[in-house]
Amino acid sequence: MRREIVAGNWKMNTTPAQGVELLKSVAAVKGEAKSSVELIVCPPFTHLCSVIDAAKGTGIAVGAQNCADEAKGAYTGEVSAEMLASMGVEYVILGHSERREYYGETSEKLVKKMKLVYDNGMVPIYCIGEKLEEREAGKEEAICRAQIEEVVFSLSESQFEKLVIAYEPVWAIGTGKTATAEQAQDIQHFIRKVLAEKFGTLAEKTPILYGGSCKPSNAGEIFGKKDVDGGLIGGAALVAEDFIGIAKAF
Ligand code: PGA
Repeated sequence: MRREIVAGNWKMNTTPAQGVELLKSVAAVKGEAKSSVELIVCPPFTHLCSVIDAAKGTGIAVGAQNCADEAKGAYTGEVSAEMLASMGVEYVILGHSERREYYGETSEKLVKKMKLVYDNGMVPIYCIGEKLEEREAGKEEAICRAQIEEVVFSLSESQFEKLVIAYEPVWAIGTGKTATAEQAQDIQHFIRKVLAEKFGTLAEKTPILYGGSCKPSNAGEIFGKKDVDGGLIGGAALVAEDFIGIAKAF
């Protein structure tokens, strides 16, 4: 049995007050989902503290959406892994396609970020996935393999055991276009196979989430697949009923 996880990536949405309200609304309906489903919310940096406060006692974990690739010092505008951990952040999304695309996030930087996240006792939710033109050229496996080999293969076994992976085809993110359950299963099975090349049977335990226009109406079919262990949810995570509606799909 692998962990079942539904994580909400709020991206650059909500004010701090709205974020606390959203957390409270999620907590209020959380009981509708199976208690074994782990819920994580990832608000913007500015409301991590207040959302963490509001999440106390709810069983909902809080993650950040990014962290700096240096430990501390003269890096204006950056937020370090140590700062996040000291606030009670448990997870950090790393390598989201929006960060790779708009902020020049390279594998080299992601290796550094991952090390800092682990060094500070947090867990990365590492995102991988191909763009539309890459899928059309039949390169989705090669892209996912490279994103794993260049970053995940730098981890020790004890680090890898904690890792959460999110497969997010870029063409499905925020587009309303979801991968079919079969497409998700095929590539997530491949991803697990690549992880096993380095980490052997430990890869059987790795939670691999699907992300990209996941909604209450399609989550059941996608989560029903053998190698899909939950979802990383963007748009639908901003509405408590939809977020829990997705968690209820298990
Ligand atoms: P979406 O975003 O659910 O809005 O497609 C998913 C993500 O980017 O994590």
